[in-house]
Amino acid sequence: MEEEIDWDQEAENWTKWARTPGHDAYWYYRDRFFDEIVPPAGRCTVELGCGEGRVVRDLQKRGHRVVAIDRSRRLLRYAKESDPDGLYLIANAARLPLTDASCDLVVAYNSLMDVADLPTTVSEAARILEPGGRICVCVTHPLSNAGNFVNSESGSAFHISETYFGRRNFEGTFERDGLTMTFRGWSMALEDYTRTFEGAGLLLEALREPQPSDTTARFAAWHRMPMFLTMRLVKP
Ligand SMILES: C[S@@+](CC[C@H](N)C(=O)[O-])C[C@H]1O[C@@H](n2cnc3c(N)ncnc32)[C@H](O)[C@@H]1O
Repeated sequence: MEEEIDWDQEAENWTKWARTPGHDAYWYYRDRFFDEIVPPAGRCTVELGCGEGRVVRDLQKRGHRVVAIDRSRRLLRYAKESDPDGLYLIANAARLPLTDASCDLVVAYNSLMDVADLPTTVSEAARILEPGGRICVCVTHPLSNAGNFVNSESGSAFHISETYFGRRNFEGTFERDGLTMTFRGWSMALEDYTRTFEGAGLLLEALREPQPSDTTARFAAWHRMPMFLTMRLVKP
């Protein structure tokens, strides 16, 4: 079994990165996720890999009652500090401390490419969903994970130097406007995700390759290439 990624190490960096207004790409992609992928609030929403809690807070604003899961103690401390009444549980998403059919929505926002055991994590998500329940997913787009833009020009070519296929480790440190963040995770092909969902008995209901809401030069290249892939799956 692959090793879990230790997000405790990056907890401070991630919290600053995620909370600085306009800094992370989330600010420019979240609306399409909430508007086109996430269904209206039902009885219970579970977020897998909540980190410092920004998605939980955005779900709550839309009326969701959320149970949030993460395996990073430090990130959960930040999440709880900013939402003292919220329900945050420390757990591995591959072994959820929740009973069968206990929720009607699972959200996994940029966390499935971080978990060590994707098939077990997705099966666990399916187990805790009631029949007819949905899982809403955002991952970094498998194509954008496969290579890099050659330069920072808006019309830059995109170069895939190795392969699009197969599960591969990625690690990259980014510095912008005085903030630094090291991202680690696994890159996979689209087929790896859809085969995993098939294996858990989930049916694909919607898939989007959103473009960012920002139209300035900063995101120009991302109007030509998808940065994220979002999906909604249903448990029959
Ligand atoms: C990129 S962060 C995303 C956090 C949050 N969803 C957001 O978008 O702000 C990925 C999160 O997944 C969590 N994570 C990774 N593997 C996990 C696992 N096996 N079980 C539970 N949480 C996990 C990490 O601790 C981290 O907080």
